[in-house]
Amino acid sequence: MPTPKLTFRPAERLAALPPYFYADLTQRLAQLRVRGVDLIRLDAGSPDLPPAPFIVQALQRSAEKPNHHGYMPYGGTPEYRAAWAEFYGRRFGVELDPQSEVVGLIGSKEGIFNLTLAFVNPGDVALIPDPGYATYANAALFAGAEVIYMPLLAENKFLPDLRAISSDALRRAKLMWLNYPNNPTGAVAPLEFFAEVIALARAHGFIVAHDAPYTEITFDGYRAPSLLQLPGAKDVGVEFHSLSKTYNMAGWRVGVAAGNPEVLRALGRLKGHIDTGTFRPIMDAAAGALTGDQSWTIERNEIYRERRDVVVAALRAAGFQADTPVAAIYVWARLPEGVDDRAYAAGLLEATGVSVTPGSVLGPSGAGYFRIALCHPVERLREAMQRVGRWGVEVGS
Ligand SMILES: Cc1ncc(COP(=O)(O)O)c(C=O)c1O
Repeated sequence: MPTPKLTFRPAERLAALPPYFYADLTQRLAQLRVRGVDLIRLDAGSPDLPPAPFIVQALQRSAEKPNHHGYMPYGGTPEYRAAWAEFYGRRFGVELDPQSEVVGLIGSKEGIFNLTLAFVNPGDVALIPDPGYATYANAALFAGAEVIYMPLLAENKFLPDLRAISSDALRRAKLMWLNYPNNPTGAVAPLEFFAEVIALARAHGFIVAHDAPYTEITFDGYRAPSLLQLPGAKDVGVEFHSLSKTYNMAGWRVGVAAGNPEVLRALGRLKGHIDTGTFRPIMDAAAGALTGDQSWTIERNEIYRERRDVVVAALRAAGFQADTPVAAIYVWARLPEGVDDRAYAAGLLEATGVSVTPGSVLGPSGAGYFRIALCHPVERLREAMQRVGRWGVEVGS
């Protein structure tokens, strides 16, 4: 007698998570690849350029040490935390205590998810930028929170309208996520905006979590501030940063949360039950990246700037609306009125092999937009933009 096939139902809480857009996309891309389509993926913000050689050499040197292969403390080595404190002091004039005000992360995505789990109860409100990096909303949904979107609209320079948040939402809010320089819009936030947010958080007793992985990728002389620069920021705020984009180290999985020590203590407590830290050689090399020569990142930013200019000019020539971002690695393009962004992206992929992220995947206010990531050599981007131009603006509606 054959034994009946067992089925294992995932926990109910998993049902709170929406289907992952990129999983379906990856499947479709694999089918197209088999058909021999020359794919150009502009949908993912994974840096194509390598870290500076001195960073890779530091990894190699550390990995050669026989005693560098054991478990690590979950919040990072003292040297890694101190490197972040040095970075914040030098770059933003922010003083951080490496022990209590810095927690090392396995990439900022891990910390974003776990901060939410550490603080948000079922029924709490999480204030989420829309469009935005999907993990803010998905972690909140997983924690049973009510997600209240803060629309980022062109007419408000892609900053949330703080006055539009209802008093009920403010009363029930546990956590507000912000992200500047912004993915996907490329918008930046002035210090005055952060000051207003801090005052609001203080008045209503919620945590401000500023996700800031793009502060070091800026163009045209713009310098991005840190939330923690503002007086009183550490009373309500934590900031997330990462080596993924700053130093082209996305696959290394190494990041940080800095700021309010009480908030970080709870995050650290949760992490203590979940992970055992990042591999020591990665932390050693990351510390070297943070405290070593930064001049190579100027050249790197110049490469992104050239790519940005090529993409923005081509989009405009093709009839799309797109601002010229002064930071981050994305161009946020607006489709003509009435064109559905998912239909457009799907049609573009089938017809040309160019993959872009439809805006509504990143939140309801992203409808009618699409996002291009600048993670290909400029010649490849030119080729992609020629295909986009040939396909046209109206098709896909
Ligand atoms: C706004 C934002 N936050 C966080 C992340 C995740 O970064 P990490 O590689 O540090 O997990 C990304 C990655 O694209 C991002 O765009």
